[in-house]
Amino acid sequence: MRILAIETSCDETAIAIIETVGKTKTPSIRVLANKISSQVKIHAPYGGVVPNLAKREHQKNIIPILLQALNDAGMLKKDLRITNYELRKKKKIEKILEREQELLQIFKKEIIHISKPSIDAIAVTIGPGLEPALWVGINFAKALAYVWNMPIIPVNHMEGHIFSALLKKSGKDNFQIFPPSIQKKIKIRDGEANFQFPMLALLVSGGHTEIVLVRNFGKYKILGETLDDAAGEAFDKVARLLGLPYPGGPQLAAFTEMKTRNPKHETRNKFQILNLKSKIKLPRSMINSNNFNFSFSGLKTAVLYLIRDLETKYGIEIMRPLIAKEFQNAVVDVLTSKTIRAAKQYKTKSILLGGGVAANNLLRAELAQKIKKELPNTSFNVSLLSLTGDNALMIAVAAFFKNKKAMKHVSSLKAEGQLRLM
Ligand code: KG4
Ligand code: ZN
Repeated sequence: MRILAIETSCDETAIAIIETVGKTKTPSIRVLANKISSQVKIHAPYGGVVPNLAKREHQKNIIPILLQALNDAGMLKKDLRITNYELRKKKKIEKILEREQELLQIFKKEIIHISKPSIDAIAVTIGPGLEPALWVGINFAKALAYVWNMPIIPVNHMEGHIFSALLKKSGKDNFQIFPPSIQKKIKIRDGEANFQFPMLALLVSGGHTEIVLVRNFGKYKILGETLDDAAGEAFDKVARLLGLPYPGGPQLAAFTEMKTRNPKHETRNKFQILNLKSKIKLPRSMINSNNFNFSFSGLKTAVLYLIRDLETKYGIEIMRPLIAKEFQNAVVDVLTSKTIRAAKQYKTKSILLGGGVAANNLLRAELAQKIKKELPNTSFNVSLLSLTGDNALMIAVAAFFKNKKAMKHVSSLKAEGQLRLM
């Protein structure tokens, strides 16, 4: 089975094409294409993702990304003699893309001369995410599905993050897979495998922080979630308070790992640093609450007060790495301790970690260590670093597992910004 997946839920425009071989439970997944175009630079001046800007960028980028993906997969056949765009179709496409005029113009120019690729279904993220952004992917999927006469498989973005943590590289020659223009082979193992149900998923990203019970693929229960900011959002907001540009999460994390300091600077401030260290304490909000919910917005306020009270005396340069470290420790403490507690309570056999914040080294290491110590029979699966952020490969894989629910009739498909796993 070959699936083309489209992901536009936030600020990455992504398209992947996979080919699956073997049984549904233990398929071998070959990545024929995996393209991502990031809009980070566009949104950086605003300190966050601007939905309408994201929509415009997706419209601009999605067809070039599709062409590159088809090309990588060896499926791009462009011929000016081809035209699958007679009048009747034209009207329908204009209707489907009526709210994405910029995309429609590129569609008319590019897509009509492409011959139908040998793909069995189109997968698309329908939520959760920013609705204007989601709509671009959904309407594009509808238009393609119409022109190429293919079914659409709607996918929940968070389900994609779950699958991203289960993908392992297979085959020795596949290390230089990136850039993804070369074909890749990735295998999901089950059975003798490294994951079993019930499984507990900790999903942490810029938009979400959830602990999910995975009874089986397609059978989910959210056990807890953030009541305010998502973990990634907290990283980005605190990074901003520390004077780091958006998205500051990864940079803040990098600060905590810096070992080499100017020794002169160090001795001069040794006493000062010790003194300051004792003052930098941040709350572990809700760590002992008798549920699996989180709250991260208090951290941001606590950091704001620390800076306000101490900056004149110590200077932000000295405070930055210390606050970064304490902040990261606070977030990781809460995330890992609640995940372990939920895994114990629900007696899950595996734990997985996915989403953008799963790139955080301390979180990966701490969770692995706590599992080893407190739940030695529980397996741990974490996203490859290349798959923690938003991508379409995870959407394609999730779609493959949903295959049966593939939809022929697509008119009811709509963006669901608040879509939940269930
Ligand atoms: O999953 P993702 O790429 O997009 C969403 O669906 O939100 O997650 C992006 C989030 C951002 O908030 C970013 O700052 C955070 O993940 N992030 C990190 C790290 N790398 C990315 N947070 C902490 N440590 C990191 N190393
Ligand atoms: Zn995401």
